[in-house]
Amino acid sequence: MSIFFSSVLAVTSISSFLVILILVIDLIINNYPNFDININNKKTIKVEGGKPLLFALKDKEIFIPSACGGRGSCGYCKVKVLNTSTPYLPTELPYLTDEEKKNNIRLSCQIKVKSNLNIEIPESLFSVHQYETKVLSLTDLTYDIKQVTLEIEKDQNIDFKSGQYIQFEVPPYKLTSETVYRAYSIASAPSDNKKIELEIRLVPNGICTTYVHQYLKVGDKVKINGPYGEFYLRPTDAEIIFIAGGSGMAPIKSILLDMKEKGINRKATYFFGAKTKKDLFLLDLMEDLMKAMPNFKFIPALSDLNADPDWQGERGLITDVVDKYILSGENKEAYLCGSPGMINACIGVLTKKGIPNEKIYYDKFA
Ligand SMILES: Cc1cc2nc3c(=O)[nH]c(=O)nc-3n(C[C@H](O)[C@H](O)[C@H](O)COP(=O)(O)OP(=O)(O)OC[C@H]3O[C@@H](n4cnc5c(N)ncnc54)[C@H](O)[C@@H]3O)c2cc1C
Ligand code: FES
Repeated sequence: MSIFFSSVLAVTSISSFLVILILVIDLIINNYPNFDININNKKTIKVEGGKPLLFALKDKEIFIPSACGGRGSCGYCKVKVLNTSTPYLPTELPYLTDEEKKNNIRLSCQIKVKSNLNIEIPESLFSVHQYETKVLSLTDLTYDIKQVTLEIEKDQNIDFKSGQYIQFEVPPYKLTSETVYRAYSIASAPSDNKKIELEIRLVPNGICTTYVHQYLKVGDKVKINGPYGEFYLRPTDAEIIFIAGGSGMAPIKSILLDMKEKGINRKATYFFGAKTKKDLFLLDLMEDLMKAMPNFKFIPALSDLNADPDWQGERGLITDVVDKYILSGENKEAYLCGSPGMINACIGVLTKKGIPNEKIYYDKFA
């Protein structure tokens, strides 16, 4: 047994040594010049060679969606690269379908700029900008969710669709030696384009959420970029099912406020899953929205069957509650936000009810 462990240790040490050696050689020998990147056959920018494409573009204020901050774990940063000879990396493969590989789609955080490139990105990304903001207020919504209100500085305005998200820039501090980015859905209505609200849940030892919960102060400056995302209300007459848990409340709150302001009175039911009463928040706002929009119903449910004996509302897993209320999926569309586990389980219930996959929209907070 000890021979087995020694062999594993030896192989691991040799591989780690080789990886470090390759990186050092890449740094010393490959002193890359600057390269040209042609975007959509429309414009050409000069970028620093040797950098991941995602960051080379960002340096030139071209912002590609990236929920994991370039760690290769979200699959959001896809870009069509028409002329690279770099083979697909093992870190890219889990996020790319065969069709995408045929179409030269790459994860821009994984491939480095080592030659002139021709790339294609969605036109909408040209309207993504960086914004300097100031923290206007920090409010505890629950013991682990903070509402952060940011004021857009200078003469900029942020135009977004309700449901979209921004990336929050965390400067180097105790938990990170470099600047990192994390995705947060905008919780406020798009009608106010000088201010945005975020709802940020603390992840123990998480880089961004620890920064927000323990270091960020009113008056601090914060850089954000955005807006991004395809999670927004489709303009149909279908009945709406919203499902969220925890900070998944944020984009749905934005959509609901927007619906109220625009007088959209489609039939809509919002199922919100929480463990106990102390995980519920914005109940007064939901009451107000139900009064203002007669076709809107908010149904919170507690999953801890024994907690809060005074609770009069629904109990059980949110999937069971959705299963109980939704009898058929006919003429319905669904908007889901929260943990990947919760979303996957809810998609299972909704498709069984007959809602087609293409009418189920979601943002997984991973
Ligand atoms: C499109 C999109 C929108 C999002 N909107 C919101 C939002 O409105 N509010 C919000 O609070 N979050 C949101 N998130 C999640 C957010 O982007 C971060 O992933 C999360 O806040 C953790 O960041 P961190 O830097 O603190 O943790 P990290 O330093 O990235 O992670 C630390 C550790 O915790 C684990 N971890 C990461 N996230 C979670 C999690 N959610 N639960 C449990 N463990 C985790 C990681 O695997 C890692 O091991 C969104 C994500 C996406 C993709
Ligand atoms: S930024 Fe997340 S995979 Fe590239």
